[in-house]
Amino acid sequence: MDREGLAAAIACEDPAFEEALRDEAYRVKVETIGPEVYLRGLIEISNICAKNCLYCGIRRDINCQRYELSDEEVMATAKVASRRHFGSVVIQGGERTDPAFIRKITRLLKAIKEIEPAAEGELPLGITLSLGEQSREVYEEWFDAGAHRYLLRIESTNPDLYHKIHPNNSLHSYDRRLQALYDLKEIGYQAGTGAMIGLPYQTPEDMADDLLFYKEFDAPMVGMGPYNPHPETPLTLSGAPYPSAERRLALGLKMIALLRLLVPDINIAAATALEVLDPRGREKGILSGANVIMPNITPEEQMVKYNLYDRKTLLRDCPSSVDPEKRDTHICRNCVFPFCSLGDDLNGKKIVIGYGRWGDSKHFKKP
Ligand code: 5AD
Ligand code: SF4
Repeated sequence: MDREGLAAAIACEDPAFEEALRDEAYRVKVETIGPEVYLRGLIEISNICAKNCLYCGIRRDINCQRYELSDEEVMATAKVASRRHFGSVVIQGGERTDPAFIRKITRLLKAIKEIEPAAEGELPLGITLSLGEQSREVYEEWFDAGAHRYLLRIESTNPDLYHKIHPNNSLHSYDRRLQALYDLKEIGYQAGTGAMIGLPYQTPEDMADDLLFYKEFDAPMVGMGPYNPHPETPLTLSGAPYPSAERRLALGLKMIALLRLLVPDINIAAATALEVLDPRGREKGILSGANVIMPNITPEEQMVKYNLYDRKTLLRDCPSSVDPEKRDTHICRNCVFPFCSLGDDLNGKKIVIGYGRWGDSKHFKKP
């Protein structure tokens, strides 16, 4: 599990090896942290973003319809998560640092914490934020208002690659991003990170370094997922080659498996980006060692505008949009929403959903 070994494992395309690795990671996951999978209801609060990442479908310079959920919409959605015993929500959005937005998040955090738990013995909803780089003061304000986890992907731990996929200006600084991660950790958040997998220019060594970074940073949770091109971004339009969809799926699953073996007791999310590559992508992520799923509970009218990458908007976790005729392309879980078969599949494999629990990383509780 050193850099060389990890890079060799990442480069190896032998399907038997890849399958054995995934099975072993799943076994180690169950042995170390148990069979539970935790849910976080994903609320995509706004697709307005001040940044211009070269791979992203909601980057500032893309012409798309922008939205921001109202306080009422966020609260109604959070209440769905509570009633459905999800245990936690993630509030994710484009990066904004305007005071009105910052105050809004603070207000919402306090209000969500006031939602009466849906059952005896359940805690108020756990809250993860994923709202990009903010000042230390803002991170502190949100922590004090009730957020206890924060997701900030490093996107790539190779500064050269980072600069190839971001505009070259102070708003997109690798060092600033790293500093934000250390700020979050120092404040007391469970600071999660991650990177995209299968990017143009990315080598097996880069991916090995990403895994070693998660370990060294001591991240209690990691959310990484395959790169999926968006047709209108500069990165796609540049024509730079990237691995096939099949390879990106295999790589995404393999990275989960390798990370589970490298740091067995952390939380690892089965990313939505897996699901656009395979209608059972997140389930396969779980069977490769992930233990967190984030069903998207954003109101559907807005969800389709949060178009980070190609075909993302075809995904529907939203209860209102589930069409039993299209079971295979829908990914909601039977146990949460009616009509969907993923829940059955998970239950059939003796995967236990940790309903009504925060499902904090066991790694974080370690002294
Ligand atoms: N493919 C995959 N993931 C993407 N993200 C943004 N654009 C893409 C894309 N084209 C991811 C980034 C970001 C998260 C919100 O979405 O990693 O951190
Ligand atoms: Fe904004 Fe995040 Fe997209 Fe970058 S990846 S443009 S910060 S939403």
